[in-house]
Amino acid sequence: MVAMPNPTLHDRFYNARNDPSVVVIEGFHPLKHAFRFGAELLEVVSPDPSALADLQSEYAPDIKTPFKDLAQPVSEELFDRLAPVRPPTGVMAIARRPVVDLAALLSNKAPVPVVLLENPRNLFNIGAAVRASAAAGAAGVVNTGNLDPWKPAALTSGVGLQFAIPVAQSESLPQCDRPLVAVDLGGETLPDFHIPDRALLAFGTERQGLSQELLEVADHRVSIPMENGVSSLNLATSVAVILYHWKLAQQP
Ligand SMILES: C[S@@+](CC[C@H](N)C(=O)[O-])C[C@H]1O[C@@H](n2cnc3c(N)ncnc32)[C@H](O)[C@@H]1O
Repeated sequence: MVAMPNPTLHDRFYNARNDPSVVVIEGFHPLKHAFRFGAELLEVVSPDPSALADLQSEYAPDIKTPFKDLAQPVSEELFDRLAPVRPPTGVMAIARRPVVDLAALLSNKAPVPVVLLENPRNLFNIGAAVRASAAAGAAGVVNTGNLDPWKPAALTSGVGLQFAIPVAQSESLPQCDRPLVAVDLGGETLPDFHIPDRALLAFGTERQGLSQELLEVADHRVSIPMENGVSSLNLATSVAVILYHWKLAQQP
């Protein structure tokens, strides 16, 4: 039997981008959140571990494990070849992708909403929506369509908060017992609308908005008021507005 040669570091990062069992983390801030929320890190590389230590003492002094001890030092030249665009914070990692149980997320009885992104077309929007969802305390994010919310660009704009809450993929509108709230232009307006417990809050695609199929089965339809002449909010911004409307209503 011929022994297979060990893939080089470059090959491991290259292959990880197409391996559904792992994710590639580009930059310090997504790595910081990944670590805080328990990611299993398989590789960490940096061309300048002492600069990494400085970033950690400034932005994540709560993390006691020194990232510089986790990081394998690599040449600047190799580091530049590990990503299409070099992360300016000088660190990259490969982590195990968490397995998310979509059915368990949807059937969770806690009175907390789940965010549904219907076929979003922009990875940066997906990441920003995950970030808002984690910050506001949503139970999780379900994404339909063919973009993967764990791709490096989504992890970068989500600053790694995909590791903080369940982020799942669903082929289509998931069946569940949660009240379906269509967040859509033309619905009942905030602030009067009360978000029901365990809502599945559905947000539409950037250009067309929510599909007719989803609007037809929604239990409620809610819109965010805007000034005359403004067509709509950015997708992730609307996620943040709705979730904080819910969150602030929870305060005693
Ligand atoms: C950029 S908007 C889509 C605009 C699209 N032309 C439409 O007619 O819905 C993307 C998503 O953000 C949410 N959204 C943006 N602005 C909103 C608003 N003022 N009220 C409710 N939802 C909004 C909706 O879920 C919408 O599907």
